[in-house]
Amino acid sequence: MNKIFKGFCLLGLGILMMSCGEPKKEVSEASMESKEKIVVDNLLTRRSIRAYKDEAVPREIMNTILKCGIYAPNGMNKQPWEIRVVDNPEILNGMTELYLAGMDEDNPRNPKKDPNFRNMFRNAPTVVFIAMQPGMCSQVDCGLLAGNMVNAAWAYGIGSCIQMAPMEFMKSEEAKPYLEKLSFSEGYEFLMAIGFGYPDEQPEAKPRIKEKIKFVN
Ligand SMILES: Cc1cc2nc3c(=O)[nH]c(=O)nc-3n(C[C@H](O)[C@H](O)[C@H](O)COP(=O)(O)O)c2cc1C
Repeated sequence: MNKIFKGFCLLGLGILMMSCGEPKKEVSEASMESKEKIVVDNLLTRRSIRAYKDEAVPREIMNTILKCGIYAPNGMNKQPWEIRVVDNPEILNGMTELYLAGMDEDNPRNPKKDPNFRNMFRNAPTVVFIAMQPGMCSQVDCGLLAGNMVNAAWAYGIGSCIQMAPMEFMKSEEAKPYLEKLSFSEGYEFLMAIGFGYPDEQPEAKPRIKEKIKFVN
């Protein structure tokens, strides 16, 4: 009886050692490999999206995307940004109406000519507005903030499009009531909008110029 008990103890100890020793390392190395693959695939498959399904991004997911944004590296950790999130279609449509009103009907770039046009933020149902506190690193910092957000969004299958084109309109006299509604602090300048939503298109990757990269020996 005693021998059988000893045998069980040795077997148990063996299993315990196996689970704490080499095999565990192998498991963690394997998961690292897949983690790298997941991250790299996510970065290489993200595209700017300009056609979306109707539904806004759930705020819970949006909060994670925003958190990933503000954890971006930034010069001296100054975080020279302010961020406003709008998923109320009334506000986005109101801005769009004003934007279109100021546009020449004959302008070939008038988005009204596009049958899929929904709003001036590349049709996105959720829009993040970013204002910047001017400074040496600020544009780079806000770019990194935006980069983290679009890549985090894509991990959730959420498409996005960074947009600087709305800057001129957002700084115009007619957009003033909306800019005030966004209530950026004194000293902050509107910089960009980022549209988010569930993609309704699957664009090909835009070509990249690989020759721009060189290792120097
Ligand atoms: C700083 C910046 C400004 C951009 N502004 C606009 C814009 O105003 N409108 C737009 O449709 N796309 C805009 N884009 C998206 C680019 O056109 C897009 O990232 C580029 O063509 C590469 O395509 P990809 O994002 O699908 O890889 C902008 C991107 C960046 C990073």
